Amino acid sequence: MPDRDRRRLLIDCDPGHDDAVAIVAAAAFAEVVGIVTVAGNVPLDRTTHNALVMRDLIGLDTPVHSGCSRPLVAPPRHAGFVHGESGLDGAELPEPTTPLDGTDGVEFIIDTCRSSEGLWLVPTGPLTNIGTAFRRAPDLPDRVAGVSLMGGGSFGNRSAIAEFNIWADPEAAAIVFDAFDPSTPGSAAGPLIMAGLDVTHQFQVTPERIEMTRAVPGQLAAALAGLFDFFTGTYLKRHDEGALWGAALHDPLAVLAVTHPDLFDHVDRHVVVETRGEHTAGMTVIDERRLLERSDPNCRVLTHVDADAAFAVILDAITQFST
Ligand code: RIB
Ligand code: CA
Repeated sequence: MPDRDRRRLLIDCDPGHDDAVAIVAAAAFAEVVGIVTVAGNVPLDRTTHNALVMRDLIGLDTPVHSGCSRPLVAPPRHAGFVHGESGLDGAELPEPTTPLDGTDGVEFIIDTCRSSEGLWLVPTGPLTNIGTAFRRAPDLPDRVAGVSLMGGGSFGNRSAIAEFNIWADPEAAAIVFDAFDPSTPGSAAGPLIMAGLDVTHQFQVTPERIEMTRAVPGQLAAALAGLFDFFTGTYLKRHDEGALWGAALHDPLAVLAVTHPDLFDHVDRHVVVETRGEHTAGMTVIDERRLLERSDPNCRVLTHVDADAAFAVILDAITQFST
């Protein structure tokens, strides 16, 4: 893809198996202006280590900055039971050889958004860094081309109704969704794109897709096949028989929504984040009413993905780095 056509992305992530694939997809099809890490799947030191590992594995020339080590209000909660204690269990990965570029990821986000035109923010973990940046620099939402996030949905995975990235830091997520709410004074135009569980559960790394990955030559494909084996293993162990055929490969969809929008269908909806409910904290409240009194939309909610075509794009990305 010619450089002039490449979208410019800043990836904010908590690697995490699916975050790792999101980094590969972003590097293959976009200009990655930076990677910022956040505590999420595993603590910040591990997500940061894993981001450095992925940068080196694909030879990506972009800065990595570590961000927030804990949510704004909620207690730190992780997902080692899904990703393993390392955050990238399932493959022997080389130790990073390139150093971390900074430890104030929020400031890096603010500075980069202010100095770059047409930048997309692509968060694939808890929204702590992005929410903190928007709070510290209220001009930011209007400065970016958009935000494309993985999170939320009409059902949950950490509770009946809350998805992990939103549930882990509901207060930060509320800042981000509200920043694009037309009823918020000074709100930004957006778009705010939400790749929630309704669409990411359509994109599973099935045994067939794992073998397609393994068939690609090179160290990256071999590593990802091992990661997929582990990731799918923990998923299938935790779900009813037949509920899924492989791990939901959530995070790369937030990247592909920007680089390959034709893969998706979407609806525009008003979405707010519940921060207080005893049973509903971390819920993305999506207004599906046909009542004309409903609030104006602030979010492009992805509803469908062409999963086979999307996985072919992921395989293309992996192949690009199959040295
Ligand atoms: O709920 C799925 C999300 O939580 C994904 O981003 C996964 O990496 C974890 O962060
Ligand atoms: Ca993630």
